[in-house]
Amino acid sequence: MRVALVQSRPVFGELDLNLDSLVGAVSSAEADFFVLPELCLSGYDFDNRSECSRYALGAEDPRVLELSRAATDKGAGIAFGFAEAAGQGGLFNSAMLAFPDGRARVYRKTHLFAREKLCFDPGDSGSFVEEFLGTRIGVAICFDWIFPESFRTLAIRGADLVAHCSNLVMPYCQRADFARSIENRVYVFTANRIGTEERSGRRLEFTGESVALAPDGSYLLRLPVDRE
Ligand code: ACM
Repeated sequence: MRVALVQSRPVFGELDLNLDSLVGAVSSAEADFFVLPELCLSGYDFDNRSECSRYALGAEDPRVLELSRAATDKGAGIAFGFAEAAGQGGLFNSAMLAFPDGRARVYRKTHLFAREKLCFDPGDSGSFVEEFLGTRIGVAICFDWIFPESFRTLAIRGADLVAHCSNLVMPYCQRADFARSIENRVYVFTANRIGTEERSGRRLEFTGESVALAPDGSYLLRLPVDRE
Protein backbone atom coordinates (compact mmCIF):
# COMPACT_ATOMS: atom_id res chain seq x y z
CA MET A 1 0.00 0.00 0.00
CA ARG A 2 1.27 3.46 -0.90
CA VAL A 3 0.42 6.02 1.79
CA ALA A 4 0.58 9.79 1.33
CA LEU A 5 0.97 12.30 4.15
CA VAL A 6 -0.56 15.69 3.45
CA GLN A 7 1.05 18.52 5.44
CA SER A 8 -1.14 21.60 5.06
CA ARG A 9 -1.30 25.24 6.16
CA PRO A 10 -4.99 25.98 6.80
CA VAL A 11 -6.24 29.55 7.00
CA PHE A 12 -8.40 29.89 10.12
CA GLY A 13 -12.11 29.91 9.32
CA GLU A 14 -11.69 29.71 5.53
CA LEU A 15 -13.46 26.40 4.96
CA ASP A 16 -13.79 26.68 1.20
CA LEU A 17 -10.24 27.91 0.63
CA ASN A 18 -8.83 25.12 2.79
CA LEU A 19 -11.04 22.56 1.09
CA ASP A 20 -9.83 23.64 -2.37
CA SER A 21 -6.22 23.40 -1.33
CA LEU A 22 -6.65 19.94 0.26
CA VAL A 23 -8.63 18.60 -2.69
CA GLY A 24 -5.84 19.90 -4.95
CA ALA A 25 -3.19 18.13 -2.87
CA VAL A 26 -5.06 14.83 -2.80
CA SER A 27 -5.97 15.00 -6.50
CA SER A 28 -2.40 15.62 -7.58
CA ALA A 29 -0.78 12.73 -5.66
CA GLU A 30 -0.69 9.02 -6.44
CA ALA A 31 -1.43 6.93 -3.36
CA ASP A 32 -3.73 4.22 -2.02
CA PHE A 33 -4.38 5.97 1.27
CA PHE A 34 -4.11 9.62 2.33
CA VAL A 35 -3.58 10.94 5.87
CA LEU A 36 -4.36 14.62 6.48
CA PRO A 37 -4.04 16.79 9.61
CA GLU A 38 -6.53 17.38 12.43
CA LEU A 39 -9.19 20.10 11.89
CA CYS A 40 -7.77 20.64 8.42
CA LEU A 41 -10.86 22.34 6.97
CA SER A 42 -11.44 24.94 9.69
CA GLY A 43 -8.16 25.67 11.42
CA TYR A 44 -7.56 24.96 15.08
CA ASP A 45 -7.82 27.56 17.82
CA PHE A 46 -11.48 28.46 18.31
CA ASP A 47 -12.22 31.17 20.85
CA ASN A 48 -15.10 29.24 22.38
CA ARG A 49 -17.84 26.73 21.70
CA SER A 50 -20.07 29.21 19.96
CA GLU A 51 -17.36 30.13 17.45
CA CYS A 52 -16.52 26.45 16.98
CA SER A 53 -20.15 25.69 16.15
CA ARG A 54 -20.01 28.19 13.26
CA TYR A 55 -17.30 26.15 11.54
CA ALA A 56 -18.43 22.66 12.52
CA LEU A 57 -19.84 20.42 9.79
CA GLY A 58 -22.05 17.35 9.82
CA ALA A 59 -20.35 14.13 8.75
CA GLU A 60 -22.44 14.24 5.56
CA ASP A 61 -21.89 17.91 4.80
CA PRO A 62 -21.04 18.44 1.09
CA ARG A 63 -17.57 19.75 2.01
CA VAL A 64 -16.76 16.64 4.05
CA LEU A 65 -18.04 14.46 1.21
CA GLU A 66 -16.03 16.43 -1.37
CA LEU A 67 -12.79 15.89 0.51
CA SER A 68 -13.55 12.18 0.98
CA ARG A 69 -14.35 11.83 -2.70
CA ALA A 70 -11.10 13.49 -3.79
CA ALA A 71 -9.55 10.21 -2.64
CA THR A 72 -12.33 7.64 -2.98
CA ASP A 73 -13.25 8.59 -6.58
CA LYS A 74 -9.76 7.50 -7.60
CA GLY A 75 -9.83 4.27 -5.61
CA ALA A 76 -7.96 5.50 -2.52
CA GLY A 77 -8.87 5.72 1.17
CA ILE A 78 -8.52 8.84 3.30
CA ALA A 79 -8.39 10.00 6.94
CA PHE A 80 -8.82 13.70 7.74
CA GLY A 81 -9.75 15.79 10.75
CA PHE A 82 -12.73 18.15 10.89
CA ALA A 83 -14.85 19.96 13.47
CA GLU A 84 -18.01 17.85 13.62
CA ALA A 85 -21.50 19.06 14.48
CA ALA A 86 -23.63 16.11 15.60
CA GLY A 87 -27.05 15.53 17.15
CA GLN A 88 -28.58 18.22 19.35
CA GLY A 89 -25.68 20.68 19.70
CA GLY A 90 -22.88 18.11 19.94
CA LEU A 91 -19.43 19.29 18.85
CA PHE A 92 -16.58 16.87 18.34
CA ASN A 93 -12.98 17.07 17.20
CA SER A 94 -13.36 14.25 14.68
CA ALA A 95 -11.67 12.40 11.86
CA MET A 96 -13.38 10.91 8.84
CA LEU A 97 -12.11 7.55 7.62
CA ALA A 98 -13.51 6.86 4.15
CA PHE A 99 -12.96 4.20 1.50
CA PRO A 100 -13.90 3.73 -2.17
CA ASP A 101 -16.43 0.97 -1.32
CA GLY A 102 -18.57 3.56 0.51
CA ARG A 103 -17.50 2.82 4.07
CA ALA A 104 -17.26 6.06 6.06
CA ARG A 105 -16.64 6.05 9.82
CA VAL A 106 -16.03 8.93 12.16
CA TYR A 107 -13.58 8.73 15.05
CA ARG A 108 -14.13 11.37 17.75
CA LYS A 109 -11.00 12.49 19.60
CA THR A 110 -10.84 10.90 23.03
CA HIS A 111 -8.15 13.05 24.66
CA LEU A 112 -8.92 16.72 24.14
CA PHE A 113 -5.93 19.07 24.50
CA ALA A 114 -5.91 22.26 26.60
CA ARG A 115 -8.51 24.81 25.35
CA GLU A 116 -10.15 22.22 23.10
CA LYS A 117 -12.10 21.26 26.22
CA LEU A 118 -13.88 24.64 26.06
CA CYS A 119 -15.09 23.92 22.53
CA PHE A 120 -15.60 20.20 22.02
CA ASP A 121 -17.33 17.31 23.74
CA PRO A 122 -15.09 14.37 24.66
CA GLY A 123 -15.16 11.74 21.93
CA ASP A 124 -17.78 9.01 22.31
CA SER A 125 -17.01 6.88 19.26
CA GLY A 126 -14.38 4.67 20.86
CA SER A 127 -11.58 3.50 18.61
CA PHE A 128 -11.96 1.04 15.76
CA VAL A 129 -10.08 -0.57 12.91
CA GLU A 130 -11.13 -0.89 9.27
CA GLU A 131 -9.43 -3.06 6.66
CA PHE A 132 -8.44 -1.71 3.26
CA LEU A 133 -6.28 -3.47 0.65
CA GLY A 134 -5.27 -6.03 3.25
CA THR A 135 -4.13 -3.39 5.77
CA ARG A 136 -6.00 -2.78 9.02
CA ILE A 137 -6.20 0.93 9.67
CA GLY A 138 -6.96 2.69 12.96
CA VAL A 139 -7.31 6.43 13.55
CA ALA A 140 -5.97 8.64 16.35
CA ILE A 141 -6.13 12.41 16.66
CA CYS A 142 -3.18 14.47 17.85
CA PHE A 143 -2.97 14.53 21.70
CA ASP A 144 -4.27 10.94 21.82
CA TRP A 145 -0.60 10.07 21.13
CA ILE A 146 0.58 11.00 24.63
CA PHE A 147 -1.53 8.23 26.16
CA PRO A 148 0.17 4.93 25.21
CA GLU A 149 -3.17 3.19 25.68
CA SER A 150 -4.60 4.90 22.59
CA PHE A 151 -2.27 3.29 20.08
CA ARG A 152 -2.13 0.10 22.18
CA THR A 153 -5.91 -0.23 21.99
CA LEU A 154 -5.77 0.14 18.21
CA ALA A 155 -3.04 -2.51 18.02
CA ILE A 156 -5.04 -4.91 20.22
CA ARG A 157 -7.99 -4.36 17.88
CA GLY A 158 -5.74 -5.53 15.05
CA ALA A 159 -4.36 -2.32 13.53
CA ASP A 160 -1.35 -2.59 11.23
CA LEU A 161 -1.30 1.15 10.62
CA VAL A 162 -2.30 4.17 12.72
CA ALA A 163 -3.46 7.21 10.76
CA HIS A 164 -2.66 10.03 13.18
CA CYS A 165 -4.33 13.32 12.18
CA SER A 166 -2.52 16.08 14.07
CA ASN A 167 -2.14 19.78 14.82
CA LEU A 168 0.96 19.50 16.99
CA VAL A 169 2.26 22.55 18.84
CA MET A 170 5.04 20.73 20.70
CA PRO A 171 7.96 18.83 19.12
CA TYR A 172 7.77 15.64 21.20
CA CYS A 173 5.31 13.53 19.28
CA GLN A 174 7.42 13.15 16.16
CA ARG A 175 10.15 11.63 18.40
CA ALA A 176 7.77 9.64 20.62
CA ASP A 177 6.27 8.02 17.53
CA PHE A 178 9.41 5.83 17.58
CA ALA A 179 8.08 4.22 20.75
CA ARG A 180 4.46 4.13 19.60
CA SER A 181 5.40 2.25 16.43
CA ILE A 182 7.87 -0.22 17.93
CA GLU A 183 5.96 -1.03 21.13
CA ASN A 184 2.85 -1.83 19.10
CA ARG A 185 4.50 -3.13 15.91
CA VAL A 186 2.46 -0.77 13.75
CA TYR A 187 3.10 1.70 10.98
CA VAL A 188 2.49 5.23 12.24
CA PHE A 189 1.62 8.12 9.92
CA THR A 190 1.48 11.44 11.77
CA ALA A 191 0.13 14.14 9.43
CA ASN A 192 0.79 17.52 11.01
CA ARG A 193 0.06 21.07 9.89
CA ILE A 194 2.35 24.06 9.62
CA GLY A 195 1.90 27.80 10.10
CA THR A 196 0.74 29.98 12.98
CA GLU A 197 -2.62 31.09 14.34
CA GLU A 198 -3.04 34.40 16.18
CA ARG A 199 -6.41 34.55 17.88
CA SER A 200 -7.65 36.93 20.62
CA GLY A 201 -4.12 37.48 21.96
CA ARG A 202 -3.11 33.82 21.76
CA ARG A 203 -0.40 32.68 19.35
CA LEU A 204 0.10 29.07 18.33
CA GLU A 205 2.90 27.83 16.14
CA PHE A 206 2.44 24.40 14.59
CA THR A 207 5.48 22.17 14.29
CA GLY A 208 5.09 20.48 10.89
CA GLU A 209 7.62 17.68 10.47
CA SER A 210 4.99 15.07 9.63
CA VAL A 211 6.50 11.61 9.96
CA ALA A 212 5.97 8.06 8.71
CA LEU A 213 7.37 5.11 10.68
CA ALA A 214 7.63 1.39 10.12
CA PRO A 215 6.77 -1.18 12.85
CA ASP A 216 10.47 -1.46 13.73
CA GLY A 217 10.61 2.24 14.66
CA SER A 218 12.49 3.30 11.55
CA TYR A 219 11.57 6.65 10.02
CA LEU A 220 10.41 6.20 6.43
CA LEU A 221 9.72 9.89 5.88
CA ARG A 222 10.13 13.17 7.76
CA LEU A 223 8.69 16.31 6.19
CA PRO A 224 10.09 19.83 6.70
CA VAL A 225 8.90 21.98 9.62
CA ASP A 226 7.74 24.82 7.40
CA ARG A 227 6.62 23.62 3.98
CA GLU A 228 3.26 22.40 2.72
C1 ACM B 1 -3.39 18.70 19.87
O1 ACM B 1 -3.93 17.72 20.38
N1 ACM B 1 -3.90 19.29 18.80
C2 ACM B 1 -2.14 19.24 20.44
